[in-house]
Amino acid sequence: MRNHREPATGAKALFPSAADRERWDDLLTRELARANGRVSHGSVTPTLDLASFRRELAGFDFRTPLPLDEAMTWAITQLEHGLVHVTHPRYFGLSNPAPTFPAQCADRIAAVFNPQLATSATSPAAVEIEAHVIRSVAQRAGLPSKSVGHFTTGGSEANYTALICALTESNPRFGAEGARAFDGPPVFYVSRESHLAWLKIAHQVGIGRSAMRMVATDGCGRMDHRALRDTIAADRARGCVPVMIAATAGTTNAGMIDPLPACAEIARSLGLWYHVDAAWGGALIASERMRHVLAGIEQADSVTIDAHKWFATTMGCGMFITRHAAVLSSAFQVSTSFMPSNVVNFDPYVTSVQWSRRFLGLRLFLSLAAAGWAGYGKHVERSIELAELLKEQLAARGFAIANASPLAVLCIVPPPGYGDPRSIARRILASGRAWVAAADFEGNEIIRACVTNGETTADDVTELVNLLQACGSQTQPGFRLSE
Ligand SMILES: Cc1ncc(COP(=O)(O)O)c(C=O)c1O
Repeated sequence: MRNHREPATGAKALFPSAADRERWDDLLTRELARANGRVSHGSVTPTLDLASFRRELAGFDFRTPLPLDEAMTWAITQLEHGLVHVTHPRYFGLSNPAPTFPAQCADRIAAVFNPQLATSATSPAAVEIEAHVIRSVAQRAGLPSKSVGHFTTGGSEANYTALICALTESNPRFGAEGARAFDGPPVFYVSRESHLAWLKIAHQVGIGRSAMRMVATDGCGRMDHRALRDTIAADRARGCVPVMIAATAGTTNAGMIDPLPACAEIARSLGLWYHVDAAWGGALIASERMRHVLAGIEQADSVTIDAHKWFATTMGCGMFITRHAAVLSSAFQVSTSFMPSNVVNFDPYVTSVQWSRRFLGLRLFLSLAAAGWAGYGKHVERSIELAELLKEQLAARGFAIANASPLAVLCIVPPPGYGDPRSIARRILASGRAWVAAADFEGNEIIRACVTNGETTADDVTELVNLLQACGSQTQPGFRLSE
């Protein structure tokens, strides 16, 4: 697409004139809105011809500069056709929903000012905004008002931070000596249905993947607290050093909530760090009607809540919160002469894994400012109501639901004769009309449908039910998925 004026190229393309910026900003806003409109009525799954896409991509040899408007529209077109669209109202996906509009605005603001959030000296306003949001979320979850924390790239980084804190608290020599500081192998406890990023976390932290104890569940997807107690006792008897219990509040596949009060009590009585991984269930704190299901979270030593899951910010936005400011500080404290400040318990580079960091918290700040807790509460309750509707409609057609989650996710078991969940999910994806996952729940294959997109409607739910039925019945002779 050519413009009437000669476009800036070369170094000028990197820092164009104010007039060019305005023109391209307008173009970008318009093209994105149009693409978004087409996406919501198009295929949920990619329609890209990968071979020709790769050929075009290879043509970018970066020798001959391309006008930015052409490069930008090319990129938008490729993404429009080359993604699973989490913004599509029939993306019943992995709890990464369509982002809120305020969060999208926040990304733009952060990109323009590009603040460095390592220290409060360079970005006082941004660091204070993040700290304010973290405090508000902590208090809403029932943690003490002196709780601290920070924004992370996601739940994995927040959980990683929790394990580092637990190890630091468990043994004051851990910081200097690592796992060698312990008298026996340090171990921690999660349920069998927990998120497997814990394995990578154990690896990164240096205590090894075998340090992750996957405690048995109760048959309904929740950690069995009796098995937890027994496993800890057996580990102690063989010389291991238990350091942390990480209860999941909203398991990834089935949205189940571990028995938080029992986990808290076991951790307290045995002197272990009690972490709650509420990466996706944590948004329930917004709802007056639903927050009670997280009872026990308020006792946590630390909590993970992802803003980029049910709080629906743009991707790469989690939160780590702890009541133990001193532990967080001692885990990440470092002194250098070149940093402009070193405020203990406050400067992000001395209280978190990252050093240079992006202004992530503005996404949740603007979303909360615009919607309030009540608005977010409605968003969460609306999802749960749609999941209930889906459940009713499926039951009427002979499908069973394997999980009993208070969250907006169903583990769907097709009626006998409908074929296996994996094949049904594959056919749904091939139709492009919806996106669901095939997953395991308590050792059985299921179809997982999560209703966390704020723009999904009851009609979308009905369409999914029709698809599930059609794609299951496809195994029966004479069936064709109608256009
Ligand atoms: C319960 C739970 N914990 C942790 C994670 C990892 O979070 P992230 O993908 O944001 O790193 C997930 C992601 O789905 C999750 O569901």
